Amino acid sequence: MADVDQLIQWKTNAWKDSNMVAWYSGRMVESSGTNPLKNAVEVGLCGKYATGPRILDVGIGTGRGSLPLARQGREVVGIDSSQAMLDETRRLAGDTPITLQQGDVERLSFPEASFDTLLSLNVVVHFPHWRRLLAEWKRVVRPGGRIVFDVHSLDNYRCAYGEGVTEQGLLQQVEQSGDFSTYVLRVAAEDMVAEADRLGLRVAALVPYGAFLGGGNVNYLMEGLERQWGWKRLLSWMALDERFHAFGLYLEQELVAKLSTRVTGRYMVVLDNVADPEANRAWLARNAEMNRLMRSSDSLAELFDFIGLRGQEFRGALNHHVGASLRNFTFFYALYREMMEKGWGELPEGILEQQHKARVLAWRKNERADDEALRMARTWYAQPEMKQATENRGISMGEAMEYFLVERLLTDYLGMFTGERV
Ligand SMILES: C[S@@+](CC[C@H](N)C(=O)[O-])C[C@H]1O[C@@H](n2cnc3c(N)ncnc32)[C@H](O)[C@@H]1O
Repeated sequence: MADVDQLIQWKTNAWKDSNMVAWYSGRMVESSGTNPLKNAVEVGLCGKYATGPRILDVGIGTGRGSLPLARQGREVVGIDSSQAMLDETRRLAGDTPITLQQGDVERLSFPEASFDTLLSLNVVVHFPHWRRLLAEWKRVVRPGGRIVFDVHSLDNYRCAYGEGVTEQGLLQQVEQSGDFSTYVLRVAAEDMVAEADRLGLRVAALVPYGAFLGGGNVNYLMEGLERQWGWKRLLSWMALDERFHAFGLYLEQELVAKLSTRVTGRYMVVLDNVADPEANRAWLARNAEMNRLMRSSDSLAELFDFIGLRGQEFRGALNHHVGASLRNFTFFYALYREMMEKGWGELPEGILEQQHKARVLAWRKNERADDEALRMARTWYAQPEMKQATENRGISMGEAMEYFLVERLLTDYLGMFTGERV
């Protein structure tokens, strides 16, 4: 069985190879699928929560989190264990002043209170020793300063694998298998808050994000949807379609970010360097209330009120995005259907404009008819005599004709397929 130190070393070494750096540098600006959305959300959160003029970026990589801050004139120091990464960041920085140093996430060579904000993007997710990292990071941040980093959400993972899954249990699985490449850190919001409390930090926000990124960023609350090819194909358009990207970003920033850490596979942690156990308790209570409202199908309206989303502004913007293109509507409809299947209940009255509501209901009716026709076709072909009659030399013609039979059932029997577009 491997130990934690081996895992930490393995993860650190993984980024030193120059081929890996070249791949990563390209990947960070790759305009495909949901990659630009991930970048926009993560870099946006860094910009939103970084405070003060002196910024330390730990595991700076190619600098996407802090180069924009340096370009605004902030004093940025970046550290990374990989010299190849730092060379690439230097190249990308061009004329922008930035200090880059080789160093380790856990042993920072700076005096106490050197920075206003310590920022670390997509780094802690690779490491199990986040509690030790936090203690060291707090040391170099000034009192009242900030620490900003992301982790995977154990609360979200538990939606699929049960409440019994623990951070320690997941680590043990990887230690036993010895396959370090499969390890990612998942932390429950309660544990994050407890650690913040222990270290004398205040939770300013735990911001869920990445609800529809797909790929390696699974949202376990929507796992069924994420397995569907139609959904994957739809998401693959996001980089190419500005209106679709804008809708995704809007939902991330205005809806998802306001919900609890159960709703997405990742969350951004924003901690203030101030001891405030009372504020942390209040944060936990609010999070628990949100989870309660999300679990109950008759409290969606209450949930929307709770996070302040019943106003005209949200309604206007949401309906604008939903109606902006057929692809946007398809995206919205898939999310709506997932909500219905999960038993979350109808959208609160007044959120959706009448025209969109009517279209949602028409699509749902058509979809039900489609499912019914398919069920009828399959039941029919499954009967032994039909099977025999439609089989030729061991090949089932029935299955091959399923598409035509469904069409006939929809048109002639269910009277649904009129060619009319709604
Ligand atoms: C996934 S990349 C993230 C890079 C960048 N922050 C971003 O979001 O694009 C992880 C970075 O952490 C660095 N890293 C890995 N282990 C480290 C360690 N022990 N100390 C410092 N940096 C480390 C890697 O070299 C790599 O640049």
